[in-house]
Amino acid sequence: MKHTPVYVSQEEMMQQERAIEQILLLPNKPNSFHIVTYGCQMNAHDSEKLAGILLKMGMTEADDRKHADIVLFNTCCIRDNAERRALGNVNWLRQLRKQKPNLLIGVCGCMVQQPEMAQRILKQYKFIDLAFGTHNLHCLPEMMLSLLTNEKRVVDVIDQENLIAEGVPIKRLHSYHAYTTIMYGCDNYCSYCIVPYVRGRERSRLMSDVLKEAEGLAASGVQEIMLLGQNVNSYGNSSENGDTFPKLLAELDQIGIPRIRFMTSHPKDLSDDLIDVMAGSKHICNHFHLPIQSGNNEILRRMNRRYTREDYLDKVQKLRKAMPNVGITTDFIVSFPGETEEQFQDTCSLVREVGFDSAFTFIYSPRPGTKAAEMDGMIPPEESSRRIGELLLEVERSSARVYDQMIGKDEYVLVDGFAKRDPTMVAGKGTRSITVKFKGTADDIGKIIPVRITSAAATVLQGERI
Ligand code: SAH
Ligand code: SF4
Ligand code: F3S
Repeated sequence: MKHTPVYVSQEEMMQQERAIEQILLLPNKPNSFHIVTYGCQMNAHDSEKLAGILLKMGMTEADDRKHADIVLFNTCCIRDNAERRALGNVNWLRQLRKQKPNLLIGVCGCMVQQPEMAQRILKQYKFIDLAFGTHNLHCLPEMMLSLLTNEKRVVDVIDQENLIAEGVPIKRLHSYHAYTTIMYGCDNYCSYCIVPYVRGRERSRLMSDVLKEAEGLAASGVQEIMLLGQNVNSYGNSSENGDTFPKLLAELDQIGIPRIRFMTSHPKDLSDDLIDVMAGSKHICNHFHLPIQSGNNEILRRMNRRYTREDYLDKVQKLRKAMPNVGITTDFIVSFPGETEEQFQDTCSLVREVGFDSAFTFIYSPRPGTKAAEMDGMIPPEESSRRIGELLLEVERSSARVYDQMIGKDEYVLVDGFAKRDPTMVAGKGTRSITVKFKGTADDIGKIIPVRITSAAATVLQGERI
């Protein structure tokens, strides 16, 4: 379905700039901020934008919430526990405010964007000073100005679901790795999922805007770019101009950033064109995160995923034929309403059949407003724990098989930092997205280093610099 995205006007972005100028002149403006981020990469990247805006207001970033004048929680609501964790931590800040009466408390992101949440915050969470959802992040300057000058709470959640704001400042977490959103929102309405309700309609940035950003990143020495979207394969579907994901990738491959990654891909939209572009590219990493959710066709149908187990296996086969060295990772949900033992076993057998590098496994969590939340057949928690335990064992066995096959091979590792519990070792991801550690120093961080794999543990490979 096509929805025309609405670009936030230059005039409105200028208005935000003017709000920042006014804030800079305020005597009572906060001096420091701290952002706590929950959820997925999309949220992590939104937090980079929030930080970019707050830095422009002349604040510094505090390393701890205790040392900040404003603490902002960028929340997630994908599962009930994500939401409870966020609310629990926000409540904890209420205690901190007893010691620091001037502390400002803000919440934003997916949890806040849920229907009724703004009302709940207004009535039940009176200590929250600032709340906004996912659609008006770019208006943070105006919201802050209003908060600081009117001394009233600001709760501003908007329903306009098709906005794209270009030119928001970004404070990137790393100098060598960068996130770039290529599309926002999701129209797939998987029956269990809240994302379409809190991230709005699917809309894609213009290819020219993405390429301009990537060129800037290449010039600043970025080693890896991660293209973000809930369903990157359908990039361009919302535009009339013929932009497609394979076209975008082919253009990005020419820019010269050493590594290109993307997530997440929906199996139903994985095209032969995309496989061809990946296989023929110089810089696109040999890794595919391809969430399947379940190995049973009836469950997939009720999840509204619009592919079958056979379709998925067929795509995996095509990927491997074109790129024999490709690593495939996935997401699973166990205990979808009414899932029988036999249907669950189909998921376990799928792990054996595909041979995933790794997988994220989740217990189904009903989300208010979604179709699945109305379905009968909730699986009791003890049974869900057993299922997820059994699935995890399958995934671990699968990883171990893949990792063993990597011994003796060479990998290019983008070093992220020191290895856990060993300061003589550094660690980072190979192109296949598996963590590799080897002897190294702080000098290696942010560089891509060739390593020969010598051994494998449960979640990490070990190697020697070549
Ligand atoms: N757009 C991505 C996924 C985004 S959410 C995709 O379609 O693959 C990340 C993962 O969270 C999903 O793949 C799914 O496995 C899990 N998830 C989403 N909603 C859930 C729910 N209600 N309960 C449990 N897990 C859920
Ligand atoms: Fe959720 Fe499905 Fe959209 Fe992924 S594709 S964000 S699981 S609705
Ligand atoms: Fe959570 Fe929102 Fe991401 S619900 S998983 S932070 S899109």
